[in-house]
Amino acid sequence: MSHSKHKRISVVGALAATALMALAACSSGGSTGTTTSGAAAGSGDKLITVGFSQVGSESGWRAANTKDIQETLTKENGFDLKFSDAQQKQENQIQAIRTYIAQGVDVIAFSPVVESGWDAVLEEAKAAKIPVVLTDRAVDSKDTSLYVTFLGSDFIKEGKAAGDWAVTEFGDKPTNIVELQGTTGSAPANDRMAGFKEAIASHTNLKIIASQTGNFTRSEGKTVMEGFLQANPSIDLVFAHNDDMGLGAIEAIEAAGKVPGKDIKIVTVDAVHDGMQALADGKINFIAECSPLLGQQLADVVKQVMAGKTPEKRIITTETTFTQEQAKAALPTRKY
Ligand code: AHR
Repeated sequence: MSHSKHKRISVVGALAATALMALAACSSGGSTGTTTSGAAAGSGDKLITVGFSQVGSESGWRAANTKDIQETLTKENGFDLKFSDAQQKQENQIQAIRTYIAQGVDVIAFSPVVESGWDAVLEEAKAAKIPVVLTDRAVDSKDTSLYVTFLGSDFIKEGKAAGDWAVTEFGDKPTNIVELQGTTGSAPANDRMAGFKEAIASHTNLKIIASQTGNFTRSEGKTVMEGFLQANPSIDLVFAHNDDMGLGAIEAIEAAGKVPGKDIKIVTVDAVHDGMQALADGKINFIAECSPLLGQQLADVVKQVMAGKTPEKRIITTETTFTQEQAKAALPTRKY
């Protein structure tokens, strides 16, 4: 990209002042916690500067995703990665994106905490001629020119895989299901719920009797499950939108004197190490995989964009599902 930093800042105009204040806050330990790796000014080939705004550190999945991105977009691989953790707050992500615009990075990448409310900041990036790559999660902007591509999982398919498993597992038996939802308004929560409901729609014996967000965290999953157990004496199945909430549910079920995986079955999404261990141990019954290893795809897409190429508008991650037996076999070589 040949656009100069000065040109970008002049396009952004008045917004730059606000963003530069945010930048000052970040570099002095502000709430978004922006860090940079591999700057190496003046040495060798020009590095591609990528500003990445991460959702937070809510789950094992997120930890693996952050590690993979930081280990892939390195100086050795040609990148100067500026990384910030939004602590699951949209306002922090917007602030981080404005900071990256003001800094004049080559590419902005981010995993949007929720689907809505991005148009204004994405228009600012577009006006500054900085390409935006959506990783992991989608936005619901009607104007798809605001981002170059969206790379990540098919969350509807994951929810559907969980629902299909429930249909096979419970057959015609009357089944009470409780749902631990991900962050309200996030793409994975919206889509996994939709996919699961679609899969069980024609099986009226399968009933979702309670749904509540556990915000993708283990602690909130546990708290919400405790409430479900108190309010509902006969729960047959937990559908947790991620492993961490499923692991929280296991703690609540055991504390209530029941056996997870037997008295109450559990189906989750992710297949991170702790979830796979619980699956192999018989405490979770089935997992639909969601891969956090998006670093290489992101690196490839950024290099394509910098070479003036147009990547596919939607890049879908390849994924599978795991039974308890498959988890036992996969665990020894699992990377995360
Ligand atoms: O966006 C991916 C989801 O976010 C993962 O399934 C969940 O664990 C994470 O918090």
